[in-house]
Amino acid sequence: MRIKLRNMRANLVGNGGRLYAEPSPSPDETSFQQDNVSAEYYNSPYYLAHKNDLQPIPPVRAGVPGYLNLADFLPDEVNTAINAAQKITFHAVGDTGAAKVNQAQTAAMAIEQEASVADAMSGDIQSGGLTGPAFFFHLGDVIYNFGEAQYYYDQFYEPFRNYDRPIFSIPGNHDGMVFGAASATPQVPTLEAFLRNFCAATPGSSPNAGGLVRTVMTQPGVYFTLDAPYVSIIGLYSNVLDSNAGVISSQGGHFPILKGDVQLKFLTSELKRLKADRQAGNRAVILAVHHPPASVDAKHGGSASVEQDMDSCCKAAGLWPDVVLSGHAHLYQRFTRVVGGKQIPYVVSGSGGFAATPPQGSVPTAPYTIGDTTLEVDPIVEFGYLTITTDAKTLSITFKTAVQGAVAVRDSVTVDLSQGKVTSGTGVPGGGGSKPKPTPGNAKSPKKLTKK
Ligand SMILES: [Fe+2]
Repeated sequence: MRIKLRNMRANLVGNGGRLYAEPSPSPDETSFQQDNVSAEYYNSPYYLAHKNDLQPIPPVRAGVPGYLNLADFLPDEVNTAINAAQKITFHAVGDTGAAKVNQAQTAAMAIEQEASVADAMSGDIQSGGLTGPAFFFHLGDVIYNFGEAQYYYDQFYEPFRNYDRPIFSIPGNHDGMVFGAASATPQVPTLEAFLRNFCAATPGSSPNAGGLVRTVMTQPGVYFTLDAPYVSIIGLYSNVLDSNAGVISSQGGHFPILKGDVQLKFLTSELKRLKADRQAGNRAVILAVHHPPASVDAKHGGSASVEQDMDSCCKAAGLWPDVVLSGHAHLYQRFTRVVGGKQIPYVVSGSGGFAATPPQGSVPTAPYTIGDTTLEVDPIVEFGYLTITTDAKTLSITFKTAVQGAVAVRDSVTVDLSQGKVTSGTGVPGGGGSKPKPTPGNAKSPKKLTKK
């Protein structure tokens, strides 16, 4: 336990009896309830034969809209406080799961890395009061390595047991991978456990929570919009491929399994729905997608197809987002993209605890521009998370690292929403992020900003 939590507190009870945090703080676990051995499945005949296959997108639950209202998840006193403050704050980060156990890393180390981030976020909730962070929007890869139900306790419910706010999530590639227990064929449909824990028809306890109180979420599907005061977040599902290949559409029929392009229709429709409110200055609009459109990470580089698909929807709707958030690459990166004179931060924060991975090969020194996108600060290869605040006039994003109990602000950016301009973007004293530490085999030729 790195963050001191108050011993006595009244936890939130949201609409429908929704619960979030345990009644009493407890120490972090020191060993896995279920030892994670799923990495072995990477060598299975089924995985090797199908690792480049996309998976179908589960349909949105029938009879429900594609968007949620945050007010339905919080008690009246929190909703009232947010509206009185005329601004909202929330958390975002991806790739949180503690599972990476190998010769160089013990289970205790993996647990500590995720716990350090989760405890810092929970500490923000405790210290922030009614107008502190209102929710956590997870950027995907909740459960490693294959989204298995049996690991939800160790990787999600236990680490966030003191996080007394709702947690929404888009799936990452690991959440949607199809796995088998130990065999040559898949035994569980894609996203089955994710749907159970994040897209349930009704609030209630989870069979995967190990008795912890957090209520399952009732998202309409794996792509959805969260409408909150002063901000809407449109989340998309970029499917199951590892590496750089996020896929949100059939790409003109190239991927028949995604025929119908439901997410492109959804995104265009949602941008049109939000357009008038955005143009009236009532709310910011954020896009969230697990695979980053821009990234300098060689293993998890930029996903140009995702960017092109999102661009087509923005053009059709006549509305561009104010911010794009992603995970997948296990570090922090901040870019500014300029579209039609509008400056849009593209922020990658796949730094939630699974791994901290330096870019492979030396990266250009920030600022570094290619095309319409500029890497603004040198990537930060440490565990940490985003805190975002907006009043619909300005929007700020802060990246804090949380390593072995030490929490530090490392970068921040502010956007004037009416002007579509980044008005400040300095990091910590020194002017920005830290340079990635060189690792063996990491001294290759300079790498260009990846936009395939
Ligand atoms: Fe990922």
